[in-house]
Amino acid sequence: MTYVNSTSANQHAAAADAPTIYVCVTCRPPGEPDSPVRPGEILAAATSRAAAGTEVQVRRMRCLGNCTRGASAAMRANGSWTYVFGGLDASSADALIEGARMLARAADGILPWRGRPTPLKRGLIARVPPIGFEEVDE
Ligand code: FES
Repeated sequence: MTYVNSTSANQHAAAADAPTIYVCVTCRPPGEPDSPVRPGEILAAATSRAAAGTEVQVRRMRCLGNCTRGASAAMRANGSWTYVFGGLDASSADALIEGARMLARAADGILPWRGRPTPLKRGLIARVPPIGFEEVDE
């Protein structure tokens, strides 16, 4: 028999619904020599600090496939589109948190352009639809 810890299950469900930012910790400026602490690591730390006290989850990961335009991060909220950003640095941390919260509030799952923080406008690399999305021709 399998027992499920409902508190743990509820916490996992809440975490799955939370706006989540994935920060690539291995990003470094293309063409520049490696450094002991990579810019991606610095961005991840700054984003984690900026998320403190909010509902936003910050996950560290290695490589979002945007290496030539790093530092990179992606975000999504429950059922939303997924956004990938590049050209970020530690000063972008607050913008990432603000953007993730905007995305979580967006009823259509699309990050609004109006009011979107500047680093998330100029740094947009791609947006990817949620599973099950179908374009509607009008
Ligand atoms: S190393 Fe950061 S996107 Fe590839």
